Amino acid sequence: MTLLERDPLSGLCPANRYGIYCELRERSPVYWSTVHSSWVLTRYADVSAVLRHPNALALDGAQFVESLSQRGKLNLASVAQLWSSISFFTRPPRHDAVRRILAQALGGIWRLNLPDLLKQRADRLLSEGEREGSIDLASGYGKLLALFVIGAALGVPEEDLLELSGVAGGMVSAFERILPSLRSLVKLDKSAAPLLDYFSRLIQLRRRSGADDGASLLVRLADQQLGCSDRELAGYCTFFFVAAEETTSAAISGAAHLILQRPALRAQLSGDLSLVPQAAREMLRLVSPVQYVWRQVGEDLRLEGQLIRAGEPLMLVLGAANRDPGVFRNPNDVDLERKGPESLVFAAGPYRCIGAQVAAFEVEVAMRALLAKPRIQLAPQPPVSSERMNIAPLLQLPAYFV
Ligand code: HEM
Repeated sequence: MTLLERDPLSGLCPANRYGIYCELRERSPVYWSTVHSSWVLTRYADVSAVLRHPNALALDGAQFVESLSQRGKLNLASVAQLWSSISFFTRPPRHDAVRRILAQALGGIWRLNLPDLLKQRADRLLSEGEREGSIDLASGYGKLLALFVIGAALGVPEEDLLELSGVAGGMVSAFERILPSLRSLVKLDKSAAPLLDYFSRLIQLRRRSGADDGASLLVRLADQQLGCSDRELAGYCTFFFVAAEETTSAAISGAAHLILQRPALRAQLSGDLSLVPQAAREMLRLVSPVQYVWRQVGEDLRLEGQLIRAGEPLMLVLGAANRDPGVFRNPNDVDLERKGPESLVFAAGPYRCIGAQVAAFEVEVAMRALLAKPRIQLAPQPPVSSERMNIAPLLQLPAYFV
């Protein structure tokens, strides 16, 4: 087992993460972290291999919550309910069934005339900012666009979105650690309950009178294929909401930041909008809104000379793999000519993000709308980032119009 003098992950945050990843990738690419009680993988080849390994599965989150609540004699009903709906805390065969239904429900999103609606919303937010002379590209653009899409997909009324987002934000901290502590689970249970109640009501409404939205589609698909309760369905909606909001919000505001910091890139993209999809892929690689995911191997595995024993947990650092210089030349630059392997921003293998296409599309639309506003500039105040280690979107990215 390789031990650096101190666990570099003890103080990981958005401000220092890339230096730490670089140190780990070079000195100890398969590293046992005492902070996380887990192996930590930072090289692209290793992360990619484990993501695609047939016997490397997600941790069974629901089982963990159940055993913890039994041991601590606690009632964690809401969080247990939600955990069993988070598909990347489930294993086959349940995972395959849940994933299929979530993917089908999400597929319905394209019926919503999304390209036009999203473009109109992005233009509107930026034009309002232009009239006022300033805009916060994190809280007033990236976050609102991400909320708009997941809200429209699930059929959540717009006036409820910000409040739901406030509650859902508390849930994202659950993905910081391989398994949350008892204290944070108790806290999570309190955030999970109102979200589950909200979506349970939405589902009951959809049962009474269906609509052309994801919640109605989910009800139909689940009734036909899963036979699950409305509370479980509410869990799936909550999971969708949490999975989609902060990740996409981080991607859009991160992309806006990267563009506005690079005048030459901005000019090149404005002059040739056909480059936007490739630029969006590069932005996503650099931002890596989900910095790491977890797996557990079902058999002994040897990586970079280290023996990982069956059952031991692994933290796969997507954010480090996506800047591995062995795979991405000049990894910290936006390279519109870049060829080679796909980044791991949406993971890979059996748990690959099912919202990847929607999310990439949102980033592209947001970028195009931004490029159409040549007078927008970053304000002198520095951006403010969430201090989380994993999903840590920009909270503030002040910009103004010259
Ligand atoms: C830029 C935005 C996004 C990023 C970076 C992202 C990233 C990821 C990653 C890395 C995973 C794999 C988790 C794991 O392996 O443990 C994942 C899974 C997932 N994502 Fe996303 N995601 C984004 C947006 C979305 C959106 C918009 C939705 C839905 C509307 C979504 C729904 C899901 C679902 C349902 C899964 C679980 C898949 C499974 O369990 O098989 N994501 N996402």
